[in-house]
Amino acid sequence: MTISTNLSLRTVEWKDNKVRMIDQTKLPNELVFVEYDDFNQVAEAIRTLVVRGAPAIGVSGAFGLALAALQSKAETKEKLLDDLESARKILFETRPTAINLKWGLDKIIQIAKQEQNVSDIKESIIKTAKQMADEDIQINMTMGKNGSILFDNNDTIMTHCNAGALATVAYGTALGVIRATKDSGKKIKVIATETRPVQQGSRLTAFELKHDGIDVSLIPDTAVGYSMSNGLVNKVVVGADRVLRTGHVYNKIGTYQVATMAKQHGIPFYVAAPLSTFDMISSPKDVVIEMRKGTEVTGVGEKKTAPDDINVINPAFDMTPPELITGIITEKGVAKPPYEESIKKLFEAN
Ligand code: MRU
Repeated sequence: MTISTNLSLRTVEWKDNKVRMIDQTKLPNELVFVEYDDFNQVAEAIRTLVVRGAPAIGVSGAFGLALAALQSKAETKEKLLDDLESARKILFETRPTAINLKWGLDKIIQIAKQEQNVSDIKESIIKTAKQMADEDIQINMTMGKNGSILFDNNDTIMTHCNAGALATVAYGTALGVIRATKDSGKKIKVIATETRPVQQGSRLTAFELKHDGIDVSLIPDTAVGYSMSNGLVNKVVVGADRVLRTGHVYNKIGTYQVATMAKQHGIPFYVAAPLSTFDMISSPKDVVIEMRKGTEVTGVGEKKTAPDDINVINPAFDMTPPELITGIITEKGVAKPPYEESIKKLFEAN
């Protein structure tokens, strides 16, 4: 099976006026591509985790609007903008925490408003969405290089969830840093957490890294403390679904536990995220944590592992406070505490 850092193979792409993506729910057992020509199908794909990971969702949202533009029968600019706005709302409501979705949708709507007529709007939207996908790869590669200097020869790096090629258009954020570190000639090992309940760590991260020949060991989420207290890990890098201007990081459920444990053991904890993942407006009280269905927790795959009618609490993300974070790696450089100052500087340099 070929996948991942092969940059010609993309997690999500625009092909012959359709959106083509890898169906991540089938991995690692099958590599299946799906193609959509209706923005509602893209919305459903985002909702059901066919495509997931903040940057991949952002680009998928933009491609979804490109489909909505092609689907629209509007003959005036105003009517087309109305159709795009309705599609934007449906796409936006699929997943509330990853800010890249808002970023991708807003950017396309803004481009549409700047054009004068229906055909120019359609052309511009498709061109911009494709550019966003190409830029995502370049940004990840730059971020990878920026982050690689923080990692040393013989490091064992823990990562949580999947912030790899599959969570982006290709290459990855946290796994991009790991790839760039390896490509810089340093010998590294990786410990990937399983990441219950949807198992992005075992199904996707372990799969991607193994495929790329990176030394990876899989652990259950419950072995994070064991691994750190027994000296099996000396650095951590994770991705993010949203970073606030204050340095609060929202990422896959369990990230907070990993960060807390890293602090307890004096292990540097890094976050890798492009500027499109930053939300410079919201405060922690404004951020909605997505709650997902209980069946993700009451079973493993098709197998039921909990009693019938059990109450379940299944948050998809948690917040890691800035005091637990050693640095935030971006395409513009690495932000260090105090974050309010260093993040502002990254944006000023943009
Ligand atoms: O629910 P998911 O699989 O979309 O969650 C993904 C994550 O939490 C990733 O760590 C995050 O999006 C960073 S991806 C580069």
